[in-house]
Amino acid sequence: MKQIPSVELIHVTKRFGDVVAVDDLSLIIQEGEFFSLLGPSGCGKSTTLRLIGGLEHPDAGDVLINGEVVNDLPPYERNCNIVFQNYALFPHLTIEDNIAFGLRLKSRRVAEPEVRKLVAEALQLVHLEGLGSRRPNQLSGGQQQRVALARALVLRPKVLLLDEPLGALDRKLRKAMQFELRRIQHEVDITFVYVTHDQEEAMSMSDRVAVMRNGNFEQLGTPQEIFQTPRTQFVADFMGASNIFTGRVIAATAEAADDAAARTIHIETETGLRVISRGGRELSSGASVSFSIRPEAIQVFPRDRDWSADNIFDGRIVEKIYLGDVTELQVALAESDPVTSRIQSRIDQKFEFKEGDRVSVGWNVEDCNVLSN
Ligand SMILES: Nc1ncnc2c1ncn2[C@@H]1O[C@H](COP(=O)(O)OP(=O)(O)OP(=O)(O)O)[C@@H](O)[C@H]1O
Ligand SMILES: [Mg+2]
Repeated sequence: MKQIPSVELIHVTKRFGDVVAVDDLSLIIQEGEFFSLLGPSGCGKSTTLRLIGGLEHPDAGDVLINGEVVNDLPPYERNCNIVFQNYALFPHLTIEDNIAFGLRLKSRRVAEPEVRKLVAEALQLVHLEGLGSRRPNQLSGGQQQRVALARALVLRPKVLLLDEPLGALDRKLRKAMQFELRRIQHEVDITFVYVTHDQEEAMSMSDRVAVMRNGNFEQLGTPQEIFQTPRTQFVADFMGASNIFTGRVIAATAEAADDAAARTIHIETETGLRVISRGGRELSSGASVSFSIRPEAIQVFPRDRDWSADNIFDGRIVEKIYLGDVTELQVALAESDPVTSRIQSRIDQKFEFKEGDRVSVGWNVEDCNVLSN
């Protein structure tokens, strides 16, 4: 039996004057999925969410929820709820009454004893039992965020839309709430569409992530795919793989040519480094190529130390930044190619790296990620 998607966008476009906020976007989200829209400011994340929720009307294309075209349905008839960054709680109502608000609307016809039961369950779900009689200004930011979530979940929407809901919280609370959101999503089994510009946040919670750029998807995949094998320079950059090289293929192994993952290519970068990488079949000798390497994949050792990696070069530390558990080293290679390496601070302390030190720098074949543009 074919599963009906929870949310489907078919060639959806939304313009604001000259700005194309969402540009011919197509997307299928399955029921119960935790799906994140990730990207820099202005790339169209909120507009996409608002199109699903019915707060914007598409200029072209169709929005479907549970297989039904909802283009002309108002938000309250779409079986979706939105949770915003600013929570938008009613300050004069208690927490219980805030959560009960939607249930008590006449159109819902929920009997009062049932309302109270559902509110109690919702409070339990977000771990706020006992705080129901307070008002919003008597709660912390994280607690208010849970109330906003409970208020949306108590209506048991098919789809919950969340627009940077943790943006106002400090780092520690945000981490805790990420974990909570994931737990709650598993418990209620509702489709979550989550907007964020924070890659770590998207990685930690999502089943799939779409990286957006200029109103469309640059790459869509599991967190692991997006993180480990960004396909474009934009995604590599956005995911923090700050080492990007361009060059050309100078040799490619012919054997195992139909197994792209096992094929080895030799690249000469524009700055003259010779690098061994994995590469697809299209990368024959002479082809131009670019690739990225994550900072944590680049190892740094003192020159006199014996160690091995598929690609090793001489370098010089030009900058060192302590970041807590990791330390970032900028290492100049062949005069013009500084690479960023992130090593465990324990290792940095062991070798006592200093700016100006001559070091050897290296990474393995599987850490070279060939980009498609
Ligand atoms: N109501 C509007 N009127 C005019 N332009 C708009 C409107 N809403 C959004 N835009 C424009 O559409 C583009 C996409 O905006 P959107 O709010 O979807 O971005 P975003 O990815 O959510 O960004 P942020 O991370 O800053 O929230 C931007 O260029 C924005 O200026
Ligand atoms: Mg936004």
